[in-house]
Amino acid sequence: MKAELERLRGEAEAALARAVSDHEIADIKARFLGKAGSIQATLKGLGKLPAVERPEAGRIANEVRQAVEAAVEGALTRVATEGRAREIATRIEDVTLVGRRPPVGALHPLTQTWYEIRAVFASLGFAVVDGPLVETDWYNFEALGVPADHPARDMQDTFFVEGGALLRTHTSPTQVRVMEREKPPIRIIAPGHVFRRDDDVTHSPEFQQVEGLWVDEHITFGDLKGVLAEFARRMFGAATKIRLRPSYFPFTEPSAEVDVSCLICGGRRTGCRVCKETGWLEILGAGSVDPLVFENVKYDPERVTGFAFGMGIERIAMLTFGISDIRLFYQNDVRFLRQFA
Ligand code: PHE
Repeated sequence: MKAELERLRGEAEAALARAVSDHEIADIKARFLGKAGSIQATLKGLGKLPAVERPEAGRIANEVRQAVEAAVEGALTRVATEGRAREIATRIEDVTLVGRRPPVGALHPLTQTWYEIRAVFASLGFAVVDGPLVETDWYNFEALGVPADHPARDMQDTFFVEGGALLRTHTSPTQVRVMEREKPPIRIIAPGHVFRRDDDVTHSPEFQQVEGLWVDEHITFGDLKGVLAEFARRMFGAATKIRLRPSYFPFTEPSAEVDVSCLICGGRRTGCRVCKETGWLEILGAGSVDPLVFENVKYDPERVTGFAFGMGIERIAMLTFGISDIRLFYQNDVRFLRQFA
C-alpha cells in the first residue's frame, strides 16, 4: 500500500507540474483527492492490512494527501503568475490614450455662501450655534415680542405641527435660547433652515437664514453699524457701502433694514435692473435688542445692551452669483450646480 500511495503522489505531482489551466488542475485534484479519487480508493484497502501495519499506512496516506493538496495550491499560483506574465508580454499598451477624469463635485452655492458669511463673522469673534427647526410658539413669537394677536404674525405665517409646535419662521428664536442658557457677553451667529407660507421666484416655503447676536454691557447701535459695514466690505468687496433705513421688528428697537450699494452698478443706477435703478440692495434686518426680550430671558435691561440681525442666505447668494430664480437652488440640476465648481 505504501508503494501504491507513493506512486499516486508522484503521478499527481507530475500531472500538476504539467497543468496549464485552473480547469485542468481542478480535474487532477478530483482525480487524486476526490471522494471517488484514487487515494481514497487505495485507503479502502486499509482494513485488509494486518493491524500492526495500519497506523503506519494511515500516517503515510495523510502525508500523501497533504503533499498533493500543497501541489495543487502551488500549481494554481504558478498558472496564475504565468498567465499574468503572458498577458503583460503580449498586450499592446496605448500610452497616449487620454486618462479618464473622475467626476469632481462642487459645494452647493448656498453652502459656499454660508461658508463665506461664517468666515467673516468668525474673524470678528462670532461663534456658531444651532437651534431646533421645530419650535414652540414661545421661542418663535412670544419671547420675541409677538403675542398671539400681533399683526406681525401675518407676515410670518407658517406650518404647524400637532400639539401646537411650529416650523420656525426665522432664526431669531435661537437668540432667546442662547441667552436663556448663557450669561453675557454673547457673540454668536446662528444659521439654519426656516419656513414660511411663501412661494414665488424670490421666496421659497423653506429657506435659510443667518442670525447674529452680540450682547454685552455698553454695546451700541454704532457697533451694529460697524460690524455690518465690515461684513459688507468683506463679503461683497472693499468699495461696498451700507445704508440703514428705519424699520420695525417686534424684538429690536430701534430697527433697520440694511442695504448694500448695488453689486452690479456700484450705485451708478442708470439702467441697472438688479437694483431697479435705486443703487441699493436690501440684504438684512437688524436693530438693538428690545429690553422686553432681555426681560424674557432674565437679563437686566438696565445693564446689558446688544444688537441682532438676520439675513437670508438665498438672497445673498442670488445677489452675489446673479441668480434670478430661487427655485434653482433646490432642483439639484447638475447643469446649474456645475457652474459653481
Ligand atoms: N428675524 C427677522 C426676519 O426674519 C430678521 C431680524 C433678525 C431682524 C434680527 C432684526 C433682528 O425677518
